[in-house]
Amino acid sequence: MRQPLLTSTTSYQSLRNHANQAREWQMRELFAQDPQRFERLSVEAAGLFLDYSKNRLDGRTLELLAQLARERGVERLRDAMFAGEKINLTENRAVLHTALRAPRNKPFTLDGQDVTGDVHAVLDRIKTFSDSVRSGAWKGHTGKEITDVVNIGIGGSDLGPKMVCLALRQFAHPRLTMHFVSNVDGHDMDAALSRVNPETTLFIIASKTFTTAETMMNANTARAWFLQHAPEEALAKHFVAVSTNVEAIKTFGIDPANMFPFWDWVGGRYSVWSAIGLPVALSVGFGYFSDLLAGAHAMDEHFRTSPIEQNLPMILGLVGFWNREFLDCGSVSIAPYHQDLNRFPAYLQQLDMESNGKRVTRAGDTISDYETGPVIWGDVGTNGQHAYFQLLHQGTDVTPIDFIAALRPAHEFHNHHAALLANCFAQSEAFMKGKTEIEVRQDLADQPADEIERLVPHKTFPGNRPSNTILMEYLTPATLGALIALYEHKVFVQGALWDVNSYDQWGVELGKVLAKKIEAELNGEAQPAQHDSSTNGLIARAKAAV
Ligand code: F6P
Repeated sequence: MRQPLLTSTTSYQSLRNHANQAREWQMRELFAQDPQRFERLSVEAAGLFLDYSKNRLDGRTLELLAQLARERGVERLRDAMFAGEKINLTENRAVLHTALRAPRNKPFTLDGQDVTGDVHAVLDRIKTFSDSVRSGAWKGHTGKEITDVVNIGIGGSDLGPKMVCLALRQFAHPRLTMHFVSNVDGHDMDAALSRVNPETTLFIIASKTFTTAETMMNANTARAWFLQHAPEEALAKHFVAVSTNVEAIKTFGIDPANMFPFWDWVGGRYSVWSAIGLPVALSVGFGYFSDLLAGAHAMDEHFRTSPIEQNLPMILGLVGFWNREFLDCGSVSIAPYHQDLNRFPAYLQQLDMESNGKRVTRAGDTISDYETGPVIWGDVGTNGQHAYFQLLHQGTDVTPIDFIAALRPAHEFHNHHAALLANCFAQSEAFMKGKTEIEVRQDLADQPADEIERLVPHKTFPGNRPSNTILMEYLTPATLGALIALYEHKVFVQGALWDVNSYDQWGVELGKVLAKKIEAELNGEAQPAQHDSSTNGLIARAKAAV
């Protein structure tokens, strides 16, 4: 159904008027005026605490944003998603990743059929298989225990399990080393294969479609490498697949008994909860994998049932929308102050940018008078501080930052943790406060007058730069599950406000088709086609180098 244009709604127009004033606000003053600002502008759920007080907004802004969410039917669309309605309109599919983390006794319905039973049947198989590999009962073809797992997949079939395995390394099985090969660049495969022994390696071919070119090429290479060291009948002990495409798996030569299925109502970037999470279950064990799912489910329940004003994903989504739409922030930087979350920014890039990087509405109308998804990027703190934070503090663009930290470490070096948290909190304080000219002059008081004049503009920071801080007690499977689900739902909220379909990704198709053509040309299997002169020239250079 065609929605009224976002910018024509009453609440959007009220927000636009309100933003004309808010642009002038100084956060320093907002804090000074309201000693309760932190208490008022923070919210807690599912083991996560969100402080959003360091944003250029007030209670009225939130009221208007909540009004907009209601006027745009965000709650209605949320309920439709949980009810299994086909809200992925361009692919005519339901969006039910939340069903993947629901407990066994909680029915989720799709086309009148309960899917929870199917989900738990696969989870049971994941448990049996991961228990047997971890215990050593599952042996390679020469009778040795598995020591290495190589996951071959890309995009959602790589980023989720890789990010989670790294984040939960404290819980990992000591015998099992996890490897992730995603890139079609042979260096990626070479690096993995040079570290593993075919007798003790398990390959997981992970692809929702089982047609993705990079994954298929990597899977074929891995199989050919394996068969140089082992007979064909050994494949069954060393190759398993995760996919929705059973026919393609059979054609590839994997026994369906070694296939862990999932379903077309799970988007690739939302699939870590499905059998795509098999590397996680292998690494940390099924118990902790279940805790990851339970943490996400707790966030789902909070998202599904809490009023907008106390709803963590709604608030994170609305605040991000405010910064993007009304304060002209074109990107968001993700700064986990936790080394084990070092792949989290990359994971969120796919989650957010593949979901909301859209330029037409759900009805297909071109969006021309408002902005949609921002660029997502970042790295762990404190590393980012010594690389790009300079631009964030004093550059001409304003980039909101999400700081993420655990209050307690999982190591013994407590002085390190105090230093880490001090940096995290100091950065958000510095982004908010900046440094005024008066403060700079005070610092420079003992310098000669002309030196002070010369340095003041360089040492002054505007401040007033927005950030959120998300805290958890420890980084555990459950808090990680809640954190990922929080961002999934944030993306949902923003997609609903912008009226885009967050669940397709047609934009990546054109490059795939053209790459196929050019690959044939590079291999001499096709005559060079008439490309533009740049592409022709690049192809000619590559052919000359062969
Ligand atoms: O290129 C886009 C994409 O379709 C992603 O959405 C997906 O996660 C990735 O490719 C991998 O797809 P598959 O799991 O089907 O191999």
